[in-house]
Amino acid sequence: MQATTEVMARYPLKSESDTQALAKVFAESMELCNALNTGVVVYLEGDLGAGKSFFSRAFIQAFLPKEKVKSPTYTIVESYNSSKVSIHHFDLYRLCDPEELEYLAIRDLLVDRYVALVEWPSKGVPLFPKADILIRIQHQDEVSQDFASDERLFTMTAVSKMGEQVIQKVGEQFAHPVTE
Ligand SMILES: Nc1ncnc2c1ncn2[C@@H]1O[C@H](COP(=O)(O)OP(=O)(O)O)[C@@H](O)[C@H]1O
Ligand SMILES: [Mg+2]
Repeated sequence: MQATTEVMARYPLKSESDTQALAKVFAESMELCNALNTGVVVYLEGDLGAGKSFFSRAFIQAFLPKEKVKSPTYTIVESYNSSKVSIHHFDLYRLCDPEELEYLAIRDLLVDRYVALVEWPSKGVPLFPKADILIRIQHQDEVSQDFASDERLFTMTAVSKMGEQVIQKVGEQFAHPVTE
């Protein structure tokens, strides 16, 4: 996908709690940038087990701490409403044809103030709305063959002006980013 901006940040995260901390800062940064007044689309890319659902759960719980976050693997989408924003968590892995998105009425779902977190976005092309932010998660074993490692490399790339502001805000709030 062609990025309209070059704002990108990389975060090597050593543990689940680091991932939870980044998800919380990501949520706070959206709020601080007033991104929650509109719609934000976040694509999550990475292999099975990379941590897309784990990050999504932590993001949702940043707004709804007690919420039991279910996997959308079978339902394709699970939605959550907080006082600040609606969050729609998609997993498009089981989509056979992007046309199936029509049955989910995503045009009615993705209105007003929302965040869409989208696992396996490539399955929704070209019908799914374009991303503001891409998050690529790489398991450490892709890098060093260390299969026991909890380390993940998160790469955030902005694909819209709003995405750019959010990623810059994350950089201000979160320790040890590697920005380009
Ligand atoms: N640093 C980390 N960040 C995210 N998940 C981690 C991390 N370390 C270990 N894990 C574990 O990796 C697994 C990721 O699974 P999941 O989020 O379901 O992957 P995906 O949705 O990408 O297929 C979870 O069991 C989680 O507990
Ligand atoms: Mg998942």
